[in-house]
Amino acid sequence: MCGIVGYVGNRPALSIVIDGLRRLEYRGYDSAGVAIVDGGLLKTEKKAGKLANLEKALAERSGDGIEAGVTGIGHTRWATHGGPTDRNAHPHVSVDGRVAVIHNGIIENFARLRVELEATGVEFRSDTDTECAAHLLAAEMRKLRESGAEDGPAMLAEGMRRVANRLEGAFTLLAVDVDVPDAVVAARRNSPLVVGRGNGENFLASDVSAFIEHTREAIELGQDQVVLITPAGIEITGFDGSPAIGTEFHIDWDASAAEKGGYEYFMLKEIAEQPQAIAETLIGRLSERGEIILDEVRLTDQDLRDVDKVFIVACGTAYHAGMVAKYAIEHWVRIPCEVELASEFRYRDPILDRSTLVIAISQSGETMDTLMAIRHAKEQKARVLAICNTNGSTIPRESDAVLYTHGGPEIAVASTKAFLTMLVACYLIGLHLAQIRGVMYADEVAAVVSRLRRTPDNLRDLLGRMEEVRALGRDLKTASTMLFIGRHVGFPVALEGALKLKELAYIHAEGFAAGELKHGPIALIDKGTPVVCVVPSPQGRGVMRDKVVSNIQEVRARGARTIVIAEEGDEDVRQFADHLIYVPHTPTLLAPLMTTVPLQILACEIASARGYDVDQPRNLAKSVTVE
Ligand code: F6R
Repeated sequence: MCGIVGYVGNRPALSIVIDGLRRLEYRGYDSAGVAIVDGGLLKTEKKAGKLANLEKALAERSGDGIEAGVTGIGHTRWATHGGPTDRNAHPHVSVDGRVAVIHNGIIENFARLRVELEATGVEFRSDTDTECAAHLLAAEMRKLRESGAEDGPAMLAEGMRRVANRLEGAFTLLAVDVDVPDAVVAARRNSPLVVGRGNGENFLASDVSAFIEHTREAIELGQDQVVLITPAGIEITGFDGSPAIGTEFHIDWDASAAEKGGYEYFMLKEIAEQPQAIAETLIGRLSERGEIILDEVRLTDQDLRDVDKVFIVACGTAYHAGMVAKYAIEHWVRIPCEVELASEFRYRDPILDRSTLVIAISQSGETMDTLMAIRHAKEQKARVLAICNTNGSTIPRESDAVLYTHGGPEIAVASTKAFLTMLVACYLIGLHLAQIRGVMYADEVAAVVSRLRRTPDNLRDLLGRMEEVRALGRDLKTASTMLFIGRHVGFPVALEGALKLKELAYIHAEGFAAGELKHGPIALIDKGTPVVCVVPSPQGRGVMRDKVVSNIQEVRARGARTIVIAEEGDEDVRQFADHLIYVPHTPTLLAPLMTTVPLQILACEIASARGYDVDQPRNLAKSVTVE
């Protein structure tokens, strides 16, 4: 939530900061703003609404040299405290006009700080929690100067440490001081921040996509740290002033991965990238003989043999991936596995101990609900294994082990390729556990592996014939409600299909376990209500498939318009389908890798036909860093 960028170097900062914000806009798009230090002056501009509004305001403002300054910060906002207005947009500037601050997170003690600052005569100009940080920093800088401390970047870092020590909650703060022109300072607690190391220039951002065009050398920061960047260097300290060292890493994807590449929306591009993304998740993790190789996971074989219970914690789409994983893990590993919404996990006092494995699934690695769930699990001595797509993010860093999905950057707010790659990571973990614990024979593991290896090709094939789904999407644009039903792994797919539709097309949609329909929700069905039915393979668990077919007939008898997702070759189902979408055959547990895809495209197409912004749906943000 909220995207932040900082730059210091020898090139004009404004265009670098704006380009960075463009790549971070998926994190929030309620307002945007910049502060540039230039020739002893602090120049700011901020506007409610999307980045385009800020760019327009900047274009209209000419002649004051804002485009020339070589030090700057920029912000794109997802509103928490204070509505999405111009005055609440960041940056916030101190009363003396010397300091500008941007912020991601929530300062929980801001009300107390505000009262304290108002008592000293400060007049607040916004309703945000952030503004108090600007006034506090200006006050600390004044005190430091009065005390005779040496002016310069080190003083700015000290000022920021003093401020950070007064704040409670979660925050990444970036600040510039007009009297320290060649420096940007940042403080980080429980909110994302990475440093980009350039040549004679350095960068700060919520994630690496903001500076990947300029450098692929990055530094991951720890908790409660202040980082100072100048053209000459990067200095990291703890909030107590002790020197600290960040973890350097190389970004192994390039700028083009974060561009639309000819697609109308990032979401369409990311849907199309799914075969490759799955292939990347599998690379290096399968042996020629069809074994799973997860040496990178820093849990010993003995640790994994000792596990007697698995909890999966996640939110939203990642939670749906976890639901699928439960079926796979219980079936393959034969140990109990529970899936929990991360936001609920710690409140119900779950029973955890050393032999509990908690799997935290998070694309961004920054979701606060999931982070809090894993902290709770670690306090109870459980082992935590993260599944994550974002190198350098907080959840993997705080977990005992991590399996990265390597899906590449996901920019569209609605998750697509992240979902499929999370599923693949879950399958790998399930098979790895089964292999280590000896509950599956080598040839059984190899059989699943061989099917997993074929999924990228199966998916390419499926994606090549989605035109009918697109046409159906356009046809459904006036629907006011849609239901999704499925059984077994088809149930989380139904939930995921409904979630995609809600978040993109703003249509009321609900997913149900197909068998539950008759216990109440079937009353929702009226003449013409579209019902998407995810039908299991007739092979394998044929009984389950027959039950879903009965459920389709039940809804049809009540007037529903049925959209049936079934496996190629299932001819019998045709008679019950108003619209039939075939997907390639896969073993039952792997089926969500296929059946989810038409639902992603359907939601995208309906939203687009309704004229909505597919990549940036209203009220949402990509990375949810508040609880
Ligand atoms: C929906 C979506 C969200 C995220 C959820 C968790 O399309 O993207 O539901 O799945 O906010 O995010 P991560 O995976 O980053 O923890």
